Amino acid sequence: MLYKALHVEELDGKFTKEIKELSLKTLDINDVLIRVKYSALNFKDALSATGNKGITKEFPHTPGIDGAGIVQRSSSDKFKKGDEVIVTSFDLGMNTNGAFSEYISVPESWVIPLPKTLTLKEAVAIGTAGLTSAIGTFKLMSNGQKKGDNILVTGSTGAVGSFSVKLLSHLGFKVSALSSKIDKKEFLTSIGANEVVLKNEFEMHAKRPLLKAKYDGAIDVVGGELLENILKQIRPEGSVSICGLVGSAQLNTTVFPFILRGINLLGINSAELDNEFRKTLWNMLANEWKIDLNNIIHEHSLEELPKLIDEMLAGKSTGRAIIKIN
Ligand SMILES: NC(=O)c1ccc[n+]([C@@H]2O[C@H](COP(=O)([O-])OP(=O)(O)OC[C@H]3O[C@@H](n4cnc5c(N)ncnc54)[C@H](OP(=O)(O)O)[C@@H]3O)[C@@H](O)[C@H]2O)c1
Repeated sequence: MLYKALHVEELDGKFTKEIKELSLKTLDINDVLIRVKYSALNFKDALSATGNKGITKEFPHTPGIDGAGIVQRSSSDKFKKGDEVIVTSFDLGMNTNGAFSEYISVPESWVIPLPKTLTLKEAVAIGTAGLTSAIGTFKLMSNGQKKGDNILVTGSTGAVGSFSVKLLSHLGFKVSALSSKIDKKEFLTSIGANEVVLKNEFEMHAKRPLLKAKYDGAIDVVGGELLENILKQIRPEGSVSICGLVGSAQLNTTVFPFILRGINLLGINSAELDNEFRKTLWNMLANEWKIDLNNIIHEHSLEELPKLIDEMLAGKSTGRAIIKIN
């Protein structure tokens, strides 16, 4: 039997990505075979699809770290044919063939039953981006950030960023959305930003160890020089959740924001999250943290993925690209 998937191949050090028909016999063999109905595009997928060996070591490969669908076959007694389920992160789409595909086959421990209050499309719209944003928000709140506090969100038009703007706004925070896209001010305001800070207007001073403290906390996806300067502008005892590296994986800082303002740097790794914590967060995202994602998501077909991936790597994407798999 054949199935359709995004197939990334390496030839002489060059990578190609196209939708191909593959034999189901070549798919990884695991506990649960799932007919994927929806996937979504994350930055990690874009890296995998262009041959980043830090994400995917061996090719050919199918990326896609988020999938939602229906169990087709199961050797696990926790799931049966017809169950609606979600799989995000773990090794899916990294070194296990991912959800830019009509089928995935995964270990039972990666599978989460679809929460009753979510549709498959809503669940995948949350996916890794939403989970990452929820971890960041949860950690900020656990470290003292509260309703009314001013939180800066970077990469705010992107997948994690736009979800964070919406979630923080839903929870009553004052949100400052930092973006490089001058034409997306209205979009950011419409999803809950109280203020839009353009990247080229954000205060950056290489030599000054501290700047005027303007924000109570931050969720950062960019890293590098931007993060260095965010740390200098956090109020005493505030926190910064960091998850990304779209700007740079480097971080140069002094100890001054930490020893003079007592700020906290909170790391996020959504892929290797404790399973109980993962379930708790999914439950929150499906209930009291459930937000209307309609003005963030845009739906596409598998065939549109190569173009969407190139746009994402060029920093041009906005919101969350959902892939409907027929
Ligand atoms: N640690 C984890 O568990 C985890 C989980 C999910 C994602 N991540 C990471 O989080 C980051 C964002 O992921 P995503 O899926 O949200 O990606 P995305 O949708 O592409 O969003 C990234 C946003 O960052 C901004 N940006 C892009 N290139 C930039 C550059 N060179 N310098 C400064 N800003 C830039 C853009 O927003 P503006 O134009 O609005 O500035 C862009 O929309 C990635 O590094 C990803 O690997 C980590």
